[in-house]
Amino acid sequence: MRRVTILGSTGSVGQSTVDLLLRNPDAFVVEALTANRNPALLAEQARALGARFAAIGEPDHYPALKDALAGTGIETACGPASLVEAAVRPAEWVMAGIVGAAGLAPTLAAIRRGAIVALANKEVLVCAGTLVMQEVERCGATLLPVDSEHNAIWQCFDRERAETIDRIILTASGGPFRERSIEEMRWVTPQQAVAHPNWSMGAKISVDSATMMNKGLELIEAHHLFQLPPERVDIVVHAQSIVHGAVVYRDGSVLAQLGSPDMRTPIAYALAWPGRIDAPTKRLDLAAVGRLTFEAPDELRFPALRIAREALLRGGGAPTVLNAANETAVHAFLEGRIGFLEIAETVERTLEAVSADNLESLEDVYNFDKAARQVAARLSGQTVPARAAASMGL
Ligand SMILES: NC(=O)c1ccc[n+]([C@@H]2O[C@H](COP(=O)([O-])OP(=O)(O)OC[C@H]3O[C@@H](n4cnc5c(N)ncnc54)[C@H](OP(=O)(O)O)[C@@H]3O)[C@@H](O)[C@H]2O)c1
Repeated sequence: MRRVTILGSTGSVGQSTVDLLLRNPDAFVVEALTANRNPALLAEQARALGARFAAIGEPDHYPALKDALAGTGIETACGPASLVEAAVRPAEWVMAGIVGAAGLAPTLAAIRRGAIVALANKEVLVCAGTLVMQEVERCGATLLPVDSEHNAIWQCFDRERAETIDRIILTASGGPFRERSIEEMRWVTPQQAVAHPNWSMGAKISVDSATMMNKGLELIEAHHLFQLPPERVDIVVHAQSIVHGAVVYRDGSVLAQLGSPDMRTPIAYALAWPGRIDAPTKRLDLAAVGRLTFEAPDELRFPALRIAREALLRGGGAPTVLNAANETAVHAFLEGRIGFLEIAETVERTLEAVSADNLESLEDVYNFDKAARQVAARLSGQTVPARAAASMGL
């Protein structure tokens, strides 16, 4: 039986992971679950899975969690430190399913005790990729990509013969505004932006998908996971989300992974790795799909992709600034304070304003993140909630 912990169990990735665990009760036992503001669902999951520990990030929601789990024997805790506590408890396998840089401290805690970490929380690699990969190496941890594109590439990537690989391909759905003009995108609402045509996901990643910043974050994630320079990571828009990713070998062979767009497939692969388990996903019927299309991304209409690539090339703390500015701008957009096009503008202007040339420590990550959130918040007409910075818990 594999002992597992889910960081962010109440989110979209977290709920898909819980679903797979409930379907495979003989293969897994649950150590800890975490949430931020949803004590009711967290308690329900902890009861259903027989977890030993349930932690909630926002202290305001702790009384509700305690009440809901009273008499069950399930330990409870709250605050950013409780998320780290969840990560260090003895689970062989940890799902990093928190959204944003808030997941960095708990994910690092799991890495530092040498766990198998299934990484959905891409912002962890965007804001501190080099340091995180060094810690994976130093602590003998194993990082398993969960993001569907990286999971696909991982399934096709011959690590023993990495020198035979020419490049990798990340596919992008293009999001809900793939065919909209810049003028049309100016007026889109948060409701329209979170309505992804193929995937059901949390609000932040759905907006990232709509701006195509998601693909920019994934480019940075792929660079760290597969140790390839950005010019060897191709991005192609594939509206059907059937081909998730591919590896191009030097002899011209291209190995791709295909499947219906359902996160339970990549999560199941990571959960059972190095084996496989059943996942209740719709079987791919290629004849029914009929046509698969591919096109180059349009970086004029979707500048976020270019901005992310430039941040990666600039190096140092630029990706940290990119991530923090994007989190702040997406939040402002979801709250109706800025327009859709202003998300990328805010990120670009924050990158111009915050100098982050050298990044050598987690302290630097924390400082760049904080500085970027302040600038991006000012640009988007808001003040940074103290907890947003504190929740990194570094
Ligand atoms: N959804 C997908 O299909 C998908 C696919 C690929 C990659 N990813 C990546 O996976 C990660 C999670 O995405 P998601 O769509 O599952 O997000 P989501 O639905 O918004 O869920 C996020 C989870 O993190 C928790 N959380 C949010 N803010 C937190 C904070 N400050 N401190 C601690 N916990 C916090 C949430 O708790 P509450 O529920 O209590 O707020 C929830 O459990 C993201 O990095 C995303 O890019 C997602």
